[in-house]
Order: sequence, then C-alpha cells, then structure tokens
Amino acid sequence: MITLRDYTKADIARLVALANNENVSRYLIDTFPYPYTQKDAEWWIETGAKENGSVTKVIEYGGEFVGSVGIKPQTGWQSHTAEIGYWLGEEYWGRGIATEALRLMTEIAFSEMGFKKLFAPVLEPNRASMRVLEKNGYLLEGVLRKECFKGGHYFDGYYYARVSLP
Ligand SMILES: CC(C)(COP(=O)(O)OP(=O)(O)OC[C@H]1O[C@@H](n2cnc3c(N)ncnc32)[C@H](O)[C@@H]1OP(=O)(O)O)[C@@H](O)C(=O)NCCC(=O)NCCS
Repeated sequence: MITLRDYTKADIARLVALANNENVSRYLIDTFPYPYTQKDAEWWIETGAKENGSVTKVIEYGGEFVGSVGIKPQTGWQSHTAEIGYWLGEEYWGRGIATEALRLMTEIAFSEMGFKKLFAPVLEPNRASMRVLEKNGYLLEGVLRKECFKGGHYFDGYYYARVSLP
C-alpha cells in the first residue's frame, strides 16, 4: 500500500540513509547532491521541499518512508503548469512504487491544486523514469539537445508532459 504524506523533522535520518546513494542522485537535479549529508536533508525539509510554492511529499510503502515525489509550480504565463519529480531508495526500485506515487501526485496536482499541465525533464539514459511517466499518460513533447550538465557529462533532456485541458 502506497501513501503520500508531508515531511517532518523526524524524517531527516531516513532521508539521508536513502538519498546518500550515487545511483539515486545520478540523474537528479543539483539540489539532490552526492554525497547527501545531514545538512542537505535539514535544508530540504525546512526550506527546499516547500520553496517557491513547491509541494513535496514523502512516499510511504507499507508504512515506511521509501522516497519522495513533488511538484514545483511555474510562474507568469506558465503559472498553470508545474514540474513534477520523484525518487526512491534503491532497494525499493522495480516494484511499481514510483508509478503509483506519480499517479497519486498527478491526481492531487490536477484535482486539488488545479494545475492544467505537469511536466518532467528526464535525462537521456533514465529509461525507467520515462517508462514511469508513460505508464501515467505523460507524453514525450520534445528532446532538448545537451540541455543538462550533470556529473561532468552533457545529456539530452527528454521533456514529458501531461495536460488536463481539452
Ligand atoms: C526512476 C525510478 C523513480 C523508477 O522507480 P520504480 O519504482 O523502480 O519504477 P516502477 O517499478 O514503477 O516502473 C519502472 C518501469 O521502468 C522499466 N524499466 C526499469 N529499468 C529500465 C531500463 N533500464 N530501460 C527501460 N525500462 C526500464 C520497468 O520495467 C518498469 O516498467 P514496466 O512496468 O512496464 O515493466 C527509480 O529508479 C529512481 O528513484 N531512480 C533514481 C531517481 C530518478 O532518476 N528519478 C527520476 C528523475 S526524472
């Protein structure tokens, strides 16, 4: 059973334990560094997870913190859109958890928060993430060449999105 809940300060140790893994951070944005320290977790829970209107949830599986999913609202003429992102501790990969967590967060973002478009940029090698998006009805809108620089490499960015408008 997969549920989403808000972060609390009691999550710091577990967040560090799961996030401090190069296999998890490899294709994630730079606010998710490696090594991932206690200070990074404190900043994330106190500030980053809710910065600029972001809404970030803990993913619980069988009552345990296993990862995170969140949305970051955009501004101006994109204020009806939000970026969506997610990660899981490595030992929980391959069980359909991200697919279900993305389904729940997509539903919250469209139905409760009123966003009309959700998008996710995915680095070219991250095929599992593309599959998670596709299984949730997100479509590939375009490939931005050498859009992202991470770990000393330039990657094409695969932009996936789901729109709730006709
Ligand atoms: C990407 C990630 C969230 C996937 O989580 P998960 O719970 O393992 O995903 P699911 O089990 O729900 O689904 C994974 C799908 O990808 C497929 N997949 C896994 N590895 C794959 C690969 N190398 N190539 C193609 N498909 C792959 C699986 O077969 C599955 O699809 P299926 O149900 O059709 O068989 C997880 O690996 C992760 O946290 N990675 C690190 C953080 C990250 O990259 N986040 C996303 C940033 S855009």
